[in-house]
Amino acid sequence: MRSSFLALLSASLALGHAIPGKLQARDVGSDELSQFSFWVQYAAASYCLDDYTANTGASVSCSDNLCPQVEATGAKIIYDFSNTTATDTAGYIAVDKTNKAVVLAFRGSYSVRNWIADVEFPYTDPKLCDGCFAELGFWSSWTAVRDPISKVLNETIAANHDYELVVTGHSLGAAVATLAAADLRTKGHPSATLYAYAAPRVANSALAKFITAQENNYRFTHTNDPVPKLPLLAMGYVHISPEYYITAPNNATVSASEVQVLQGEVNWDGNTGTGIPSIGAFAAHHWYFEEADGCIGSGTPLKV
Ligand SMILES: *[C@@H]1O[C@H](CO)[C@@H](O)[C@H](O)[C@H]1NC(C)=O
Ligand SMILES: *[C@@H]1O[C@H](CO)[C@@H](O)[C@H](O)[C@H]1NC(C)=O
Ligand SMILES: *[C@@H]1O[C@H](CO)[C@@H](O)[C@H](O)[C@H]1NC(C)=O
Repeated sequence: MRSSFLALLSASLALGHAIPGKLQARDVGSDELSQFSFWVQYAAASYCLDDYTANTGASVSCSDNLCPQVEATGAKIIYDFSNTTATDTAGYIAVDKTNKAVVLAFRGSYSVRNWIADVEFPYTDPKLCDGCFAELGFWSSWTAVRDPISKVLNETIAANHDYELVVTGHSLGAAVATLAAADLRTKGHPSATLYAYAAPRVANSALAKFITAQENNYRFTHTNDPVPKLPLLAMGYVHISPEYYITAPNNATVSASEVQVLQGEVNWDGNTGTGIPSIGAFAAHHWYFEEADGCIGSGTPLKV
């Protein structure tokens, strides 16, 4: 099923224009903004080798000053994962006593450019709801690590009843985080909060509606970042709602008026409306309140 990319794009645009646009839009407040720019630091830390291969009890830390506010909390890593599965799902679980949070963070894959070039995004049934389908690669990345993570989260939350579970990631890590949060909410963690930065589409409309209805979803896009435009609408994929659409330029401090909240699974007023996915726009993929993937190690085969 390798259809022409251009044919899919035109079909995507035709389909998109038949769908109503925004239902409502608003700017965010400064309290929300400080939350968003804080939690992305946990997503950024997931790219740092020292965090996804940490010794139990190590503090979350980042090179290049990418997570100073997280470092200030003294958050400790209690579990990490990498290199253990065919999907190479990587990340960590940390306990943040300052914010009373247990944080599950997924690293974005180094091969996001390959992923974009792939064009094929097969579905699988995640058995979360009737008629629901999830992108196979992202769902497999989650199920490959699900059992030990679910066990650690159950034990940790049981020992800290008043702690909130936060699931986060950037890029392909945000895609896995979205499906992980959706699944964990059905398995003992109904109010888990998701911070998904630069996530691709992960679901068909039925699953996107299911995840949207679970609530506590913060999904960010930035200007014309190509990654959230894939897989294409024409392939049957849509986004969870709402979209927090960042309009600030690359490398600039983001102000509250530069984050718009857009409702709906297809928002032509947001990232989806900024044209066909272009590799030339990749700079926008890195900048989510900070250089979210700045900790990617040198010498890795495919830097994003
Ligand atoms: C992952 O496995 C590869 C090959 O076995 C090895 O070269 C690499 O250092 C490992 N990475 C980590 C983070 O353990
Ligand atoms: C964690 O708890 C939930 C809810 O009780 C349960 O559905 C799930 O199977 C548990 N996970 C593990 C790995 O035991
Ligand atoms: C933003 O920062 C990155 C990394 O430091 C740099 O490569 C890029 O050129 C900068 N872009 C702009 C528009 O300043």
